[in-house]
Amino acid sequence: MDVRAGAPPLSSSDFAVTPAEAADARTMDALLIEGGRKLEGRVAISGAKNAALPVMAATLLAPGVHTLRNVPLLADTRTMGKVLEQLGAKVELQDHVCTIDTSRVTAVEAPYDLVKTMRASIYVLGPLLARFGAARVSLPGGCAWGPRPVNLHLEGMRALGADLQIDHGYIVGKDVRLRGAEIRFGTVSVGATGNLLMAAALAQGTTALDQVALEPDITALAEVLVACGARIEGIGTRRLVIHGVASLTPIDATIIPDRIEAATFMAAAAITGGHLTLERCEGAHMAAAIHTLEDTGCSVLPEPGEVTITGPRRPRATDVTTAPFPGFPTDMQAQMMALLSIAAGTSQVTDTVYLDRFTHVPELVRLGADIRLEGNAAVIRGVERLQAAPVMATDIRASAALVLAALAAEGETRISRIYHLDRGYERLDLKLAQLGARVQRVRD
Ligand code: UD1
Repeated sequence: MDVRAGAPPLSSSDFAVTPAEAADARTMDALLIEGGRKLEGRVAISGAKNAALPVMAATLLAPGVHTLRNVPLLADTRTMGKVLEQLGAKVELQDHVCTIDTSRVTAVEAPYDLVKTMRASIYVLGPLLARFGAARVSLPGGCAWGPRPVNLHLEGMRALGADLQIDHGYIVGKDVRLRGAEIRFGTVSVGATGNLLMAAALAQGTTALDQVALEPDITALAEVLVACGARIEGIGTRRLVIHGVASLTPIDATIIPDRIEAATFMAAAAITGGHLTLERCEGAHMAAAIHTLEDTGCSVLPEPGEVTITGPRRPRATDVTTAPFPGFPTDMQAQMMALLSIAAGTSQVTDTVYLDRFTHVPELVRLGADIRLEGNAAVIRGVERLQAAPVMATDIRASAALVLAALAAEGETRISRIYHLDRGYERLDLKLAQLGARVQRVRD
């Protein structure tokens, strides 16, 4: 059964936030989760947030009406819609189909108020410089788990000939004419790869990008650009060669499934000893997460377009180290830690991508987990069971980890500030409820 059957309609007529929605966001909903229920059933995976955001920004590259399908309904896709509207685009979202008309883009500014709520707004920098030769994009600032710089984006654009200045917190480029260049990234960056790829698509001459990110979201972006007329070689390898073209045609693309949402549901099956089939997902995009879950005792059956997972009676301890794709994703680190907190034995989770990404640790400890931080590693001594407590969400994946822990904890957990969860998961509470979880959304 499609988990959405019987649920309120998922479509929204527009990306614009109504006063009622704004009021809703301010009330900061909480989730009440009564733990101890095995999850069973089938769940449809939504489109990938991290693929939708750069593709939405890419619509700026070509004037015209673009159609994006399977767009997840999330606070973050809504924010990107607002950034595009701010620039003069017309954005509509109906039944997960997003149409974006970029024929009359009149502005080049992405304001601080939007960028501070979602760092991925910086994805408009490359397209604006490439098509309009000008941009004024707020610097995103830090985030809950560290500084998260954008130096690679700036250095890359400068290498393509953009004379960028920092002016009162904004990245400003004027009279820019991008020209091809050789760029080698010292650190693998998803965002910088995507931004430079979009900029190079319309730059004059040939650009080579070395040590690029291989995340499926970036490969999907490259494929979308090619479908619009971009000339890109090496897709799926660490070196992309882009021969700039004079113009691109509007996009008609389907957003790939969200591998992080899917892996989060796999972890939910694992932590509750449940049995789930994830529909509309791509096993090859989550091989590292699948292998790690198998190490904990899960049995996983990937099939074309779906993955079935059965959780163990009690998970086994295992060590996890995050790395850029195809390594274990940092975006699954918190959720895996929640699972390992009830494993038999001691596990170590090391994050090499974001060294400080551990805001979920004190909250998991409030639920009874035994976790000690040592630099960028967490040592987790598995406990027999977690206990409900009031906890607070601090970012998207930390929130998901708390939801997972609450599903396994004894008693009723209250998770506040779940607007973080709504940034990255489409109706997670509803999907979980339809798989048998006792979960309720309340006003905090
Ligand atoms: C993207 C994802 C995010 C995920 C992250 C890592 C989106 C919208 N977000 O974020 O969910 O957690 O990839 O997989 O796709 N870095 C620099 N300078 C830069 C840019 C990055 O030093 O200019 C560093 C970062 O601090 C980090 C590493 O590079 O240590 C990887 O970051 P990056 O891949 O750029 O992350 P995002 O694209 O921001």
